Amino acid sequence: MRKIMIIGIGAGNPEHITIQAINALGRMDVLFLTDKGREKEDLLRLRREICRRYVPQRVFRVIEIQDPARDRDPADYLVAVATWHEQRAALYERVFCEQLGENECGAFLVWGDPSLYDSTLRIVGRIAERAQVAFEYEVIPGISSIQALTARHRIALNRIGEPVRITTGRKLAADPVVDTDTVVLLDAECAFKHVATENTWIYWGAYLGTPQEIALCGPLGELAATIERVRSEARQRAGWIMDTYLLTKSAPGGDN
Ligand SMILES: C[S@@+](CC[C@H](N)C(=O)[O-])C[C@H]1O[C@@H](n2cnc3c(N)ncnc32)[C@H](O)[C@@H]1O
Repeated sequence: MRKIMIIGIGAGNPEHITIQAINALGRMDVLFLTDKGREKEDLLRLRREICRRYVPQRVFRVIEIQDPARDRDPADYLVAVATWHEQRAALYERVFCEQLGENECGAFLVWGDPSLYDSTLRIVGRIAERAQVAFEYEVIPGISSIQALTARHRIALNRIGEPVRITTGRKLAADPVVDTDTVVLLDAECAFKHVATENTWIYWGAYLGTPQEIALCGPLGELAATIERVRSEARQRAGWIMDTYLLTKSAPGGDN
């Protein structure tokens, strides 16, 4: 039976990989690569570095899957994403059939953890449901950017007994009320600018776990403009940026 492994590789530091992930890499016959965009080269470099470092003897084939173009400004965001997922499922299904032998093991190396704002699990699950190609699949967890952020700032994610919301920059910009501590990913527009600053702290990190890592924290009112400037300069320098932040009512040394 064909096997697909969806392996979380951490959010940028090759040392964040688990032993379970290393063992899975040791069984890999085919590595599927699906990165796109300007960050592609840097993200691919980490994947290569991980394979070189942890499974130097393993011989495997590399298959690049060119994702179909996505409508970036759709009238209906959810419909556009569903259509895009369907197209990708059809494409990946063909690749599994044509490029993976009956008893071979293929792997997707997913940035951070596969459960967090990543579509690989949904696409592979959809292909399994269509049942056009027989395979089993396994998920190996990874260290997410949220864990990299909290470790970098040496903070707990939640305040004692309190919930935490995880959302996107797009959602926060549409409704910038932070009455629950909030982690924000995928924010190209600095949505924290729209949040009321009173008693609110921001713990911000970009390129976490990588040599370019930047981390800033402090009262949102004092730091918002600085983060926006630092972010913009870093993005210009590298050509891309990935940043994550926590908005919380808890000051450092407080109730967390
Ligand atoms: C498509 S999501 C993937 C999240 C990933 N699955 C995870 O577990 O972190 C990409 C977003 O994750 C965040 N991110 C990923 N890696 C990061 C890093 N090294 N430093 C800061 N933020 C990161 C950013 O918000 C970025 O826009």
